[in-house]
Amino acid sequence: MGISADMGAGFQRLRELVEAVARCGRNTPGHGVSRLALTEPDRQAREIIAGEMRELGMTVHTDACCSLWGVLPSSGKGPGVIIGSHLDSVPEGGDYDGVLGVAAGLGVVRDLLSVPPRPGRPLAVVVFTAEESSRFSLACVGSKAAAGRLSPEDVRRFCDGQGVTLAEALKNFGGHPEALGQEIISPADWAAYFELHIEQGPVLDKTGDDVGIVEAIAAPTRFMLELEGVQAHSGACPMALRHDALTAAAEVILAVEAAGQAEAKFGSVATVGVCECRPGAMNVVPGRVTLKVDLRGIRSESVARMRSQVMAKAVSVCGARGVTCQLTPYSSDVPVAMNAELTALLERICRERDVKYRRMPSGAGHDAMFVAECIPSALIFVPCRDGVSHSPKEQIEWAHVQPGYEVLREAVKERLFL
Ligand code: GLV
Ligand code: MN
Ligand code: MN
Repeated sequence: MGISADMGAGFQRLRELVEAVARCGRNTPGHGVSRLALTEPDRQAREIIAGEMRELGMTVHTDACCSLWGVLPSSGKGPGVIIGSHLDSVPEGGDYDGVLGVAAGLGVVRDLLSVPPRPGRPLAVVVFTAEESSRFSLACVGSKAAAGRLSPEDVRRFCDGQGVTLAEALKNFGGHPEALGQEIISPADWAAYFELHIEQGPVLDKTGDDVGIVEAIAAPTRFMLELEGVQAHSGACPMALRHDALTAAAEVILAVEAAGQAEAKFGSVATVGVCECRPGAMNVVPGRVTLKVDLRGIRSESVARMRSQVMAKAVSVCGARGVTCQLTPYSSDVPVAMNAELTALLERICRERDVKYRRMPSGAGHDAMFVAECIPSALIFVPCRDGVSHSPKEQIEWAHVQPGYEVLREAVKERLFL
């Protein structure tokens, strides 16, 4: 599928924007980007994107949760179309997760403006705040807020590793956490949401398909486990008298893996991504360990089984070892189906343009999950090399991004001129 001569500028600009944003929070070679939510690199990336929005004639504003909106004024009335994703990254992440979707949205705006007539309905590009849970242990912060799922109390409850609450960080960034819950995406204003994202898994790269049309997004259930044993001298405390929090945690970590393996046939996965051991000295029996657990699947009952299995094992392991275990829930989201009409639209466009595509689930979480609670939403995947993501090794082939970009553009166009 080729790009027509008058519509090539958007895709070229998308590449330039991705490269420019990748310089914000760039680490030393081999260590990717660390553009954690609501930090200075995040601000720099948003400035690039806001500049592009203004250059395209969009009206730029940030909402109470600091999500950045560019809206192209329309000549007519009727609910419009939103294209969105995020700019924040995990620590030592890659260049494309989220950024590609934001830049693709702006590429689409550029292409649509290059060929009259101007869209008769509003078209918005949104950068949602803190899609990654890395800084505040809460994912999809901006899109949750836009769906009315985040209250001022919620953002006071979550904090980063330095003890800065999400509420404080939002405020320092120019947001209004006390006003959360007042700006909710309304179907009266918006008819559809589209998000383009790298797959972050190996399916498309293996099958050679250029586009994944996502049917459902797996939802994470996340919680913290704090194991408290007895801190002791590693030389003087005999083995029989120990209450080692780290060895207990080791068994719990293996139980999380076993729960994921038991439910793998349903496509579920289970991960301990954080293990902090205190006091963390070679000559001290660990007294306290914090684990952060992430369980995901597209079947709620499978995720619930993993959670029960992990908790039953944690209770028995800790009981046997004389270690206490306390659970703090972070989130328990439900798997979300994408809108059937929009997925059918994407499928038709792929067929008409001979794009190799497949319908598939998403293992990773996306802002589309929460926007879908408000308006019809669709998620388009493009391949990433070897399926690697959340890693400095995240890589794409631009030639394999182009078909997905064009499918996005055509779908947006159809919805705007309906
Ligand atoms: C977002 O990247 C996630 O953790 O799924
Ligand atoms: Mn991510
Ligand atoms: Mn992402």
